[in-house]
This record gives sequence, C-alpha cells and structure tokens, in this order.
Amino acid sequence: MNPCVIGIRTVPILNGIVALAFLKLNKNTRIPLLLSAPLISLISLSALLWLRENALEKINPNVEKFGILGISIMAEDIRDKPTLSPQDIHGLNFIRVPGTYIYRRHYRAGLRSHIMEVLDPRDVARENKGVVIEGMKYFPRAKPLKMLRLFRTKFHSLQQAHEELGRVKIIEAYLAPEHLALSNEFLVDYQRNGTYEILLCGLQEYVEGEILDPWQNLDEDHLVFLWSRLGRVGDDFSRLEITPWIEMVRSRIRAFIEKTKKMIQEVRFIPDLAGVGNLLITPSGNLKIVDINNISSVYFDSEIRIDDRGYPVCDKSVEALFRIEQQLLGEKKPGEDSLFGMFFEPDRMERVRAIEETFHTSMAPV
Ligand SMILES: Nc1ncnc2c1ncn2[C@@H]1O[C@H](COP(=O)(O)OP(=O)(O)OP(=O)(O)O)[C@@H](O)[C@H]1O
Ligand SMILES: [Mg+2]
Repeated sequence: MNPCVIGIRTVPILNGIVALAFLKLNKNTRIPLLLSAPLISLISLSALLWLRENALEKINPNVEKFGILGISIMAEDIRDKPTLSPQDIHGLNFIRVPGTYIYRRHYRAGLRSHIMEVLDPRDVARENKGVVIEGMKYFPRAKPLKMLRLFRTKFHSLQQAHEELGRVKIIEAYLAPEHLALSNEFLVDYQRNGTYEILLCGLQEYVEGEILDPWQNLDEDHLVFLWSRLGRVGDDFSRLEITPWIEMVRSRIRAFIEKTKKMIQEVRFIPDLAGVGNLLITPSGNLKIVDINNISSVYFDSEIRIDDRGYPVCDKSVEALFRIEQQLLGEKKPGEDSLFGMFFEPDRMERVRAIEETFHTSMAPV
C-alpha cells in the first residue's frame, strides 16, 4: 500500500469502519456505543499507525516518521547524499527487499556516482566469522560480485539520459572488454515522495587492481611498487614474476593508448582519464578504465571546454593519456604529435591550469 494514501484523512474512514463494527455488535442499545467512542478512536488510530508504519517500512525504510499524526518528512534525494548506507539501497523502489545480496559502500569513491559493492552473503559471513586454513584463522575480504553504480546526475529528459547511455556504448565499442569494466547500464523510475524521476544505474564488472594515477611519477620503480601491492590482492591469483609482469603492463598500456587514440580520431570522444582511480592495473598486468560516466567530446580548436563541475576534463584527459604514454612507454614528447600537439601549446596549458585551480578552489571545503 502506498504510504502517501495512509494519511490523517484515513482517520474518519477507519473511525467509520470501527463504529459500524460496534453498531453491528450492539444492535439493541446505543448507550454502550456512546460509551465506547474513545475506544473506537483509539482502535482506529492504532490501526492507522500500524498500516502506515508497515507501508512506509516496506517501501522506504529511510523515510523518517512522526508516528502520532502520521506526518512524514520528505525523503532526501539519494543523488544529493554524500554517501549511501545499505539501508538507503534497500529503500530504493527498484531494489528487491530483502533480496539475495548484501550492498556495501565501496572503500573508493568518486564525485559523480555512488559506488556500492554487491556481495554474496556467504562471502560476507566468511569475512566476518573468518575461515581456518592450516590452523590459521583468516578473515578474507568479500569480493564484490558486481559494482552497483548510481549516477548522481539529474536528467531533465529521457533524451538526455539516452545520450549519456549512447556515449557509454561508444567507448565500450572501442575499449571493452579488455580495457573497460563492462557495465549493464539501465534507467529506472526512481520513486521519491510520490514522484518519479529518471535515475541512471549500472551493474558493473568488479575490477580487482591498483590505481594507475597518471599524475604520479610513473617510472619503473612505481611499477615494481604496484606489482608488490598486487601480490596481496585476492587469494586465487597466480601472478607473473616482476619482469614479465612489467612487460605485460607495458604491452597492455600500449594497446589501451592505441585504441583510445583511434576512438578520439574516429568519433571524437574521450573518457575521463584524469580522475585518480579511474584507471586500474589488474594483477594479470592489464589496464582497465572503470569510470565510464564522464565522457567528453574532443574538439580540435582553441576553446577549452569544462564539464558540469567546471573541470577541463577533455584537456586533462588528453594530457593524462600522453603522460602515461611518455612515461611508461618512453614515447616522444606530446607536443611533437601533429594531431594532439595543440593541446600542449604553453598558452593553452596555462589557461587549463588556471581553470583547474578555480575548480580545486570550488571543491575545497569551506
Ligand atoms: N567496477 C569497479 N571495480 C573496481 N573499482 C571501481 C569500479 N568502479 C569504480 N571503482 C572505484 O571507485 C572509485 C570511484 O569510481 P568512479 O571514478 O567511477 O566514480 P564516479 O563518481 O563516477 O567518478 P568521478 O571520478 O567522475 O567523480 C574509483 O576509485 C574507482 O577505482
Ligand atoms: Mg572517477
């Protein structure tokens, strides 16, 4: 039952029903009925509250309630919340409750989406209770079956949402499955306070790996560092020795860069390569992009475009691409590239730096 219809107006209806029931029981005399008026009110009010609490609980456990008058505070839009709890997920109208899976906020986060791990309850039980292997007790971290992405952007029309989906499909065509974490993207009618809005979600492949941060010093030592950290990832990983692993990383990065450049040249789109955490190096030595929702158009002109948050994402992504290429593959200086050279002209880079600074200032806590 929709809790919106169980409001204060329900009281007289319930009163009527309870009063009729009393009338039927007390056909012969009216005195007991009059005496029992407070009782009727009490019964109907309790029934109202019970119905309402139950319906609210079922539909959205997050709606805050003031029991006695049945007034509810408006449920906050999950897209505006800084973080989401498992209860927030269970409160969504398109998530089955109790359902088969456990949802947990991923330990890494971005700005544009809520990233939730979708976990098998048996894995979570192993993580909490531990397992004994050869006399030692371990608490293996539950590995997500999928990542549930809830996009924060509020779409003004279905067409706008479809455009976003279309861009994801394009980068998927160039980079998946080797270099892109595949995601089943879907649009839902997100119900909140009796209205419906378009929400973009994705059930994405979970990528185990270490962040390749394009802004760090990407020398050989850094790769050795990543390799040593990846040795601790997972329990089913038979990893390569350091030298073949580094060779593997370089060849996978070369493939990624070639495909990305091809995509830019053919369709003029670039994914966000600048955000830290968007690129992951996997234990097997592959490079995958996981952030698939901030795709920008590439224009070979002098204008510097910014994204919805004021970040010069296209210029910075091109810069990141060439930084990775130059540092890890020892390719020529980006400014020498005939097509992309314009992105590295000193004057343009200076303007990009200024925009970036404004962006960082606007993001800093006040
Ligand atoms: N499928 C995935 N597998 C493993 N890690 C993921 C996956 N999706 C996201 N992550 C991690 O979660 C963090 C946030 O992801 P992402 O960058 O996609 O978020 P976002 O909010 O959409 O992006 P933005 O960086 O634009 O704010 C990143 O550090 C990323 O490494
Ligand atoms: Mg990101």
